[in-house]
This record gives sequence, C-alpha cells and structure tokens, in this order.
Amino acid sequence: MTIARRCEKITPFIVMDILEKIHKMEASGIDVVHMEIGEPDFNVPSCVSQMSIEAFSRNETCYTHSLGDIRLRDAISLYHRQTYGTIVDPGQILVTSGTSPAMLLLFSALVDPGDEIIISDPHYACYANFINYVQGVPVPVKVFEDEGFVYTPKAIEAAITPKTKAIFINSPSNPTGNVIPRDRMEEIVAVAESHGLYIISDEIYHGLVYEGQEHSIFEFTDKGFVLNGFSKLFAMTGLRLGYLIAPPHFVRPLQVLQQNFFICANSVTQLAGAAALTGAKAETDEMRQTYNNRRKYVIKRLKGMGFGISVEPTGAFYVFANAKHISNDSYSLAFDILDKAHIGVTPGIDFGANGEGYLRFSYANSMENLTIGMDRMETYLKEYA
Ligand SMILES: Cc1ncc(COP(=O)(O)O)c(C=O)c1O
Repeated sequence: MTIARRCEKITPFIVMDILEKIHKMEASGIDVVHMEIGEPDFNVPSCVSQMSIEAFSRNETCYTHSLGDIRLRDAISLYHRQTYGTIVDPGQILVTSGTSPAMLLLFSALVDPGDEIIISDPHYACYANFINYVQGVPVPVKVFEDEGFVYTPKAIEAAITPKTKAIFINSPSNPTGNVIPRDRMEEIVAVAESHGLYIISDEIYHGLVYEGQEHSIFEFTDKGFVLNGFSKLFAMTGLRLGYLIAPPHFVRPLQVLQQNFFICANSVTQLAGAAALTGAKAETDEMRQTYNNRRKYVIKRLKGMGFGISVEPTGAFYVFANAKHISNDSYSLAFDILDKAHIGVTPGIDFGANGEGYLRFSYANSMENLTIGMDRMETYLKEYA
C-alpha cells in the first residue's frame, strides 16, 4: 500500500516531536519546564464554561448553519466594530472548528496549482504546509531580527511574480512575538493593491499586545481575508473554534467546502465563543497583565544570559531569541537543552530556514515555572555552552 503523494511535502511540526519526548521524560518521573508549546496555561473565562453548560442544558447540540450560528456571527461582527471600528457583515463570516480548518478552506478556495503566496521567514510552521497541500507555492520572504522581524515593502516587492496571489501577514507573530506597526501595514497594503493582490491576515494573537496597538487588515483594505480564533486570547485551544472573514464573492464557495468537509463547527462551542466575545473582558485583561509581567521577566533573564533580542517582542507569548553564539543547529540545541537542563524550547528551524540559530521561548507558563526554567538555563549555559 502506498501513501498518497500529496502527503510527501508535508513536514512534521518539530515542536510536537519535542512535546512527545517531554511526555516520555515526564512519564519516567523527570520534571520538565514547558516553554515549547504555544498554549495558554489559563482556564477558559468563566462565561465560556457557564455558557457551555447552559447550551447543553438547552440541548443546543444540533448542526448549526454551515456559515456558523448567527448569534456568534453577530457577536463577531459587533466585536470588530467595537475593537477596530470596521464594518464586517455577518454574511462574510465563516465559523470553523479552529483557525487551522479556516486556513485549509481559505487556501482551497483561493489557490490554484502553482499560485504563489508570500509568507515571512520565519513564520508559523503550518502555513507552508497548508499552501503545499493545495499545490500552491509558499514564497518565503526573509525578515530580520534588527528590523523586529517585520516585512519590508521592498523585500515583498522583490518576491512578487505574475503567479503571486496573496501576501500573508501575522501580527502579533508566532514565533517572534512582534507586532507590525500601523505605517508598515499601510505600506504592505499599498504594495498589495498596486499588484492587485489579496492580503491574508492571521489575527489569532490579537488582544495579546502589551505595548503599542495591533491592527486588523480591514482597517486598511477590504481586499483581504481575516483568520482568527479563540485558542489564544480566550484560552479555548481544546474547544476548537475559529473564523474566516472573506470578501463577499468568496463566501459561497467557502460555504460549499465547509458543508462537504466539516458541515459546521461545534454548536455548543459556538455559543461559548459568543459569550467570550461579549463577557470575558475583565478576565482577558487580567491574563494580558500576567503575560506582560512574564514577558518582561523572560526577556530580562534571557538578555542577561547573552541571548540576542534586538527588538523586544510586544505581543503573543513568545520570545524568539538569537542563540547563534551557542550553536547554529537549533534542532540539536533544543534537544540538548531538553536532555541536560529539562527545559522544553522550540528550535527556530521549525519556523523556516531563516529561523535557524534562534530558539523560541513561550511564556505561557506560571511565573514560578518560568523562574525555574530560567535558572536551569543559566546553569546549562555555565556548564555546557
Ligand atoms: C499563528 C497561528 N495561527 C494559527 C494557529 C492555529 O490555531 P487554532 O487552535 O485556532 O487552530 C496557531 C496555533 O498555534 C498559531 O500560532
């Protein structure tokens, strides 16, 4: 039996290999500090659990509209108006079981074989795999530490060809934690518009910004797609809820794909998501404050140990630290740190060739654990590096 060729180009997500090794170590009694995984360590806001229970007790457990329960789509529309001042028609919103399925549907509807999508390098590990899966071509554009890992319009221009379909942005970014400033967003939109390209904006870390301000792409153009989800800001990873906002003429094809492949997102979770958008602000504000304290602490400790952080990250919950003075093989380094210091970190190479030599530290962990992790890292560097 042969495996279908479309699977050949799909690369493993290295952080999952690290995580599996950690689970083995933990099963044998070793205590590991988790700084590898991008998963909030908070419980969901109380309105999310209350609404889930309520939705079950009301037997709201049937298939919903394939675009999503209108109560959630209305809440998303209102959230965008209140947060960014943008008008999003609920008819433009497709609710999905996480941002990941939204990405699969979007690329399926947008990309013909050979079409090129510009992505930053480094970038969230799965982007290139989604694009490859639909026979598109991910075109990495290098972004650099001393520019805060933010695209320059010049570098994007240089990567555009007649096959380019869209420019993909992710701000705040995974893995770098950096936020694209307003003027740079405007410049990127100007490049896209001058070439008739779409912009795809993954806004999943919106709401987790500690200095400055994040911007939705719809503040600047309506020739764009927004991807977002409830996994990060609302700590709802396992509940699987996300959405895609698309230009009107894309909605029907996307809906047909959703009807065939997924039918709809989870009915109970959709109502919980609507509750999160309207009733979780006090709790998410508190989470953000806690993340911010951890961010400052981890940056200070890593800098003190000699890691390079030229532009301090101001969003998401990651620090992408330059470890080239220790090793240019981030994969081996991450496993060595795990073996010897019992800290989980993600190698930069997981996020593209230009991420080589970096380590991604997630601070989605308690201050107590982060302190232990940073102390262990200091000892590791003294003993081995
Ligand atoms: C940048 C980015 N986009 C999308 C996702 C996928 O999130 P979801 O849980 O909504 O599928 C992640 C998850 O880590 C992410 O970091």
